[in-house]
Amino acid sequence: MEFIDPNLVPQRRLNNGMVIPAIGMGTFGNDKFESDEVAEAVYGAIKAGYRLFDGASAYGNEKEIGKAYQRAFKEGIVQREELTIMTKVWNNMHGKGDVLVACAESLRDLGLDYVDIYMVHWPFPNFHEKGAHLSEGRNPDYKPFDLEEYMGVWRQMEKLYDMGLCRCIGMSNVTITKLEQILPLCRIKPAVLEVEINPSFQQPSLFDYCKKHDIQLIAFSPLGSPCRPERDIMEDDVVTWEMPELLEIAKAHNCHPATVCVKWAVQRGQIPIPFSVYENEYAGNLRSVTEDFLTDEEMEKLRKADRNARIIKGNVFLWEGAADWRDIWDHDYERNIPYNEQAK
Ligand SMILES: NC(=O)c1ccc[n+]([C@@H]2O[C@H](COP(=O)([O-])OP(=O)(O)OC[C@H]3O[C@@H](n4cnc5c(N)ncnc54)[C@H](OP(=O)(O)O)[C@@H]3O)[C@@H](O)[C@H]2O)c1
Repeated sequence: MEFIDPNLVPQRRLNNGMVIPAIGMGTFGNDKFESDEVAEAVYGAIKAGYRLFDGASAYGNEKEIGKAYQRAFKEGIVQREELTIMTKVWNNMHGKGDVLVACAESLRDLGLDYVDIYMVHWPFPNFHEKGAHLSEGRNPDYKPFDLEEYMGVWRQMEKLYDMGLCRCIGMSNVTITKLEQILPLCRIKPAVLEVEINPSFQQPSLFDYCKKHDIQLIAFSPLGSPCRPERDIMEDDVVTWEMPELLEIAKAHNCHPATVCVKWAVQRGQIPIPFSVYENEYAGNLRSVTEDFLTDEEMEKLRKADRNARIIKGNVFLWEGAADWRDIWDHDYERNIPYNEQAK
């Protein structure tokens, strides 16, 4: 098994002083990989040198992943304090008192006393079961974002932080439009925001906004999510790995386009959390951020290559009355004008 020294992996400092690795591993099996396979990959990844893991109760694999952590602790491969473990409250646990219960359930399943980063998975209470498909009609119970509802969830997150059950709290899948409403009401500001970012969807406006507000971006689907569930596939989706700019740079570095995505993310400053159950891929992803860096010219070429094309659109969460998935994202397309179109 290849070992990449965690000391060689770049680190990021969060707004509450926590220092975490600049790359982690995702654990959503995309409804394709069994929980045991994902857990085995987590164990392998710890052995390979990963110290940051993204998870969620919605991924349905926290019990298995918890066993992988315990095994790694027991075998002395790593100490609990050396890992940064992230998880999220699912959308069915937004009610009064529910967030505490959800956090307790994740702690029980993971076999931990605390998680390092606890996030709100989505900014509405619209939930689906694991493996859900897009249904014909909209669920009549689904609702759009509601500031009061969200702040009810965030107040509970702040309490969890006060109680020491998590070392920091964060958000996921919120836009600038939502952050502008939420941030002034926060007693404790989010330290991280987990959103989709990859070379075909770079979110430059959100990137700058988070930088200004000292919120660390965590990039989900950093490789363009080639194995995403059926429900997240639309006919005209951009295929990140087919971008000529990416292919050209991959050729120059004699590597897979996925590797360029990982390098680009770390050099730009968002924390990528690529998923893979294959040792050569996950170890390679970690190794790639310790060597053979992209040049300034290559970084600039990739910046200009942005397609402003969201891949994970969230159609499964749409409520009655919403026009389409763009409503979930407050039409942020208009804010994220791609570099190529700015001059037009
Ligand atoms: N907060 C949220 O709402 C949210 C939403 C989505 C995802 N996430 C998080 O983000 C993580 C990653 O996102 P994702 O799984 O959608 O997509 P991703 O990381 O962009 O893509 C994962 C796929 O890329 C392939 N791959 C990985 N490394 C590779 C390499 N070195 N060379 C070639 N292929 C490689 C693998 O395909 P093969 O299996 O075919 O090798 C893998 O299934 C998830 O696991 C989850 O933790 C969070």
